[in-house]
Amino acid sequence: MAISSSSTKSVTVPAFLLISAAAAAFVLFLLLTSLAPAPPCSCAHSSTTTTVTTTTTTSLNPTPVSPTSDDLSWLRSQLALNSLGDPPSSPAAWRALRKGINPRTRAEQLDDLRRFKGISHYEDVDAANHTALPCPGELLVEEHHSNYGEPWAGGRDVFEFLATKSNLASADYVLEIGCGTLRVGQHFIRYLNPGRFHCLERDELSLMAALRYELPSQGLLYKRPLIVKGEDMDFSRFGSGISYDLIYASAVFLHMPDKLVWVGLERLAGKLKPQKGRIFVSHNIKFCSRLGGEECTRRLAELGLEYVGKQTHDSLLFNHYEIWFEFRRAKA
Ligand SMILES: *[C@@H]1O[C@H](CO)[C@@H](O)[C@H](O)[C@H]1NC(C)=O
Repeated sequence: MAISSSSTKSVTVPAFLLISAAAAAFVLFLLLTSLAPAPPCSCAHSSTTTTVTTTTTTSLNPTPVSPTSDDLSWLRSQLALNSLGDPPSSPAAWRALRKGINPRTRAEQLDDLRRFKGISHYEDVDAANHTALPCPGELLVEEHHSNYGEPWAGGRDVFEFLATKSNLASADYVLEIGCGTLRVGQHFIRYLNPGRFHCLERDELSLMAALRYELPSQGLLYKRPLIVKGEDMDFSRFGSGISYDLIYASAVFLHMPDKLVWVGLERLAGKLKPQKGRIFVSHNIKFCSRLGGEECTRRLAELGLEYVGKQTHDSLLFNHYEIWFEFRRAKA
């Protein structure tokens, strides 16, 4: 995210040479960024960066992570512009707003989908014209958005928090342990370069929702996330050479036996990028605190890890905050 701002060098070379050098550097830059398996930390300030590279990097800079205060002021102004004051505070007031709009439950939507398919649909001789992925109706009516506790929309807040705290760049490698139906993961996938988001998930229904509904419906197939079915902290299928900038587990470790969490940490410690790399764990770290503070610190040190601290972040959409615990590799 941080872009080095090098000073512009004044060079007296013929214009055509400069242009072809710029073009060559541009092509080289594209090649390097697309081929390099683990590019050096892009957050490092480099005084040797040429003007050409700086310009290119800036133009490839991804969209911002979090809304700015300007964005929020703008949103408030638009709400005011449209006379959208406070939301209705009672069910009756909410119903009054509905007028001709009749809400249907997911069950009703599913029933309609099964009975009528759609107003127009391919049948009989035209059946072969149909090219859709076989996405189950249950996913089409988004039942999976209610599979887990939190409002689906809260995934964005978690992304913004983790991406900011880990100083995320689009070329970074991110591993989520238990990405479920991609409530959080979809935002990382959209932000990161193709192939940079990895996830280990054991639940078949969640995997199906992620792959058959979320990625195609959000146009994210081209991001090629590596979502692997597996459990017991088995990361062997992600390859051995990867160094992650961010590893996170949202409400996952608290459902696992402590022993398994430690096995996972042991396997992941060496896969965490030195200095920049962070592990974030949500809710609590009882796998650690149950050992007692000193013993926990000792076990972490044995794995080459250290605890950084506890952080909270709040949600843009509802009054809620989550607690996250941050770890990094201990300085050698
Ligand atoms: C299906 O494809 C056939 C052959 O191309 C075409 O004649 C027909 O109109 C198509 N049907 C629909 C509903 O698009």
